[in-house]
Amino acid sequence: MSDPKTVRWGVLGTARIATKVSSAIHSTPGAELLAIGSRSPDRANQWAQQHGASQSYASYQEVLEDDRVDAVYIPLPPSMHHEWTLKAAEHGKHILCEKPLAVSANQAAEMAAACQQHNRQLMDAVMWVHHPRATAMKAALTDGTLGTLKRVTSAFSFHMENWLQRPENQLPGAPQQIATLEEAIPYELRLQRDLGGGALGDLGWYCVRASLWAFDELPERVLATARFFNDVDFNLSGLMWFSNNRVASFDCGYDQVWRKWFEVTGTDGSLVCDDFVNPRDPQKPRYWTHNGALESQEHVTATPIQEQCMVEHFSTAIAQGQINTQWPTIAVNTQRVCSALDESARTERIVELH
Ligand SMILES: NC(=O)c1ccc[n+]([C@@H]2O[C@H](COP(=O)([O-])OP(=O)(O)OC[C@H]3O[C@@H](n4cnc5c(N)ncnc54)[C@H](OP(=O)(O)O)[C@@H]3O)[C@@H](O)[C@H]2O)c1
Repeated sequence: MSDPKTVRWGVLGTARIATKVSSAIHSTPGAELLAIGSRSPDRANQWAQQHGASQSYASYQEVLEDDRVDAVYIPLPPSMHHEWTLKAAEHGKHILCEKPLAVSANQAAEMAAACQQHNRQLMDAVMWVHHPRATAMKAALTDGTLGTLKRVTSAFSFHMENWLQRPENQLPGAPQQIATLEEAIPYELRLQRDLGGGALGDLGWYCVRASLWAFDELPERVLATARFFNDVDFNLSGLMWFSNNRVASFDCGYDQVWRKWFEVTGTDGSLVCDDFVNPRDPQKPRYWTHNGALESQEHVTATPIQEQCMVEHFSTAIAQGQINTQWPTIAVNTQRVCSALDESARTERIVELH
């Protein structure tokens, strides 16, 4: 790293989500957007101009070979996360990888091991945990006012067909506005199993993370049931059994309106956040606590943009040379649970986590 105060970022792929994260890189002190790599030189050039990257490459490999790049953001289809994380670690890059981290628990473990071996940071791009609201909610879960925590209930969904029909949501590479799910299959990674698609890795990942975050441990066993479309889980309901009679349940899917909420319930009170994945109103990140006397309190926290919080936390760890070992651990654990839930939904059996 030539300037220890500035972390220079490269991005692998001109993904839709890279728009948001590149903007966060620009607005984070100590972070600089340097390079974009794409399978297409034209897309790389155009993206570099639109999003302010000084260098564009017609491959992902060239980003890794650029010695100026300290960290890469990987928003590729989930089936490619393992390959490009391993290559990036071998090239000495720190890695912010999109969720789901991988398509199997073994892949996720290998990714973490490769980063550890090369002394590089690995983090999955779950943004909400970096917002001060998450810190405030965690304090409320652990200060004893809710009593003994017993249950997490959560949901994350959106209606894909309605979403596709909005003109602003035209799919990348699609020749015209898509009208049906069948038409969307070739252009939407979420509908392709071989690219790592499906609601569990895309949306359920957040619900699983919220449950691990609230209980601070892995479940002992899980059960899931799903409705499949084109061999991806289009809608999935999951149940996770934890130690000491604690339970988490969730549903995720592409066939219901936008929902992104959780409730954590204890013996003496509960905490509810109706938009935990991302505050609906960035100027009013809020949650509620309710006690046994049916009294409620609304809590409003500070208002930074959560993707900036994520980029800042990541860049600061690298600039200070302090690898955070909890980030890869929680990402690998989330993958372990999601992979067990996927197995359960496909085999219609309870799956034990060993
Ligand atoms: N953290 C969040 O809030 C959040 C939000 C949305 C999505 N995500 C995650 O981010 C990742 C990308 O999602 P997205 O919706 O932004 O994806 P997308 O727009 O479909 O972009 C994926 C990119 O991957 C590259 N790619 C390489 N091989 C591909 C292939 N065979 N098919 C399709 N694309 C291929 C393409 O870049 P080039 O053509 O330029 O090479 C493409 O632009 C997923 O893992 C998703 O779960 C995270």
